[in-house]
Amino acid sequence: MSEEVKVFFDKDADLGVLKDKIVAVIGYGNQGKSQALNLRDSKINVIIGNIDDEYKNDAEKDGFVVYSIPEAVKKADIIMLLIPDEVMVEVIKEKILPSLTENKVVSFASGYNIAFNLIELPKNIDIILLAPRMIGPGVRSLYKEGFYSFIGVHQDHSKMAKKIVLALAKAIGSTRKGVIETTMEQEAALDLFTEQCFGPAFGQVLMASFQLLLEEGYPPEAILVELYMSGEMSYTWKTIAEEGFIDQMVHHSRTSQYGSLSRGVYYVKFMEPIKEQMKEVFQKIVSGKFAKEWQKEQKKGEKTLKMLFASAKKTLLAETERKVREKLRLK
Ligand code: NAI
Repeated sequence: MSEEVKVFFDKDADLGVLKDKIVAVIGYGNQGKSQALNLRDSKINVIIGNIDDEYKNDAEKDGFVVYSIPEAVKKADIIMLLIPDEVMVEVIKEKILPSLTENKVVSFASGYNIAFNLIELPKNIDIILLAPRMIGPGVRSLYKEGFYSFIGVHQDHSKMAKKIVLALAKAIGSTRKGVIETTMEQEAALDLFTEQCFGPAFGQVLMASFQLLLEEGYPPEAILVELYMSGEMSYTWKTIAEEGFIDQMVHHSRTSQYGSLSRGVYYVKFMEPIKEQMKEVFQKIVSGKFAKEWQKEQKKGEKTLKMLFASAKKTLLAETERKVREKLRLK
């Protein structure tokens, strides 16, 4: 394990750095709403920058003063970009760059656009990363308890960027749990690795398990409840996060412990080809090839994505799931 990776907690961050600063939260969606509310609870001077849509109304309902994006950027010292990554490049070009004067700070919640060189920003500002490892509603509900985030400094014009990102992390509640220092590139690559390697590989194992049990004549309702619909598996993942992959096994029966530990080894021989495949996918992530492919796809109106989604909905698992969910009266 690398000794240089740093983890920071509340004691490492000073909210005083944000005194007299205006923080503009751009976007009031998943992350924007929760982070803005947390910042306000931490007594930070927050304004919202948003287009004229239902998110703007929501921010006003929550008692925030909402400006247009260029106006908010003009007024703020720190600009937190909390809009979808796909629209960010255009929004920055058209609505942010013209008002982005010297010494402002731009904070990203995802390293994607910087890591894959999709955005160019001036040299006379700070560029930081504050990327929660938590969905928006969790960021809000865990304000007092804390949640992990990745933080980083990409450009340190003020020589204060590290202090600023730590203070922001504290103000949104993250340092109560802990923040881990990464680069924009590492954050983006890790995120995409989970989405393109670990997640889909795991998904294929799930599909194969489902097919096998169906072929063996087990009732689909029982299979799906056993594999994931009961929520037992997600509860186990939560316990894995809290107690450790192996240590949480004490909560399972000894039959389960013996069965899992003695049979796990049978699958090891399949892991090398899976790792090889993941490596190929990962290379395309880190080389920026995936980002280029996705940009092209968006320009074509996301036709391939729509097609992939439609065919995923037609898989045996998805079709059976629909029927089973109806039967189990799940929404
Ligand atoms: P979201 O989809 O919830 O964003 C909605 C907001 O974006 C609204 O305020 C809307 O007015 C604004 N918006 C949408 N299209 C726009 C446009 N064309 N021009 C200007 N504003 C527009 O976004 P989300 O999911 O909160 O993501 C924000 C950032 O946080 C992204 O960088 C994402 O990668 C990152 N992130 C998201 C997480 C999540 O839980 N969703 C977790 C960690 C990071």
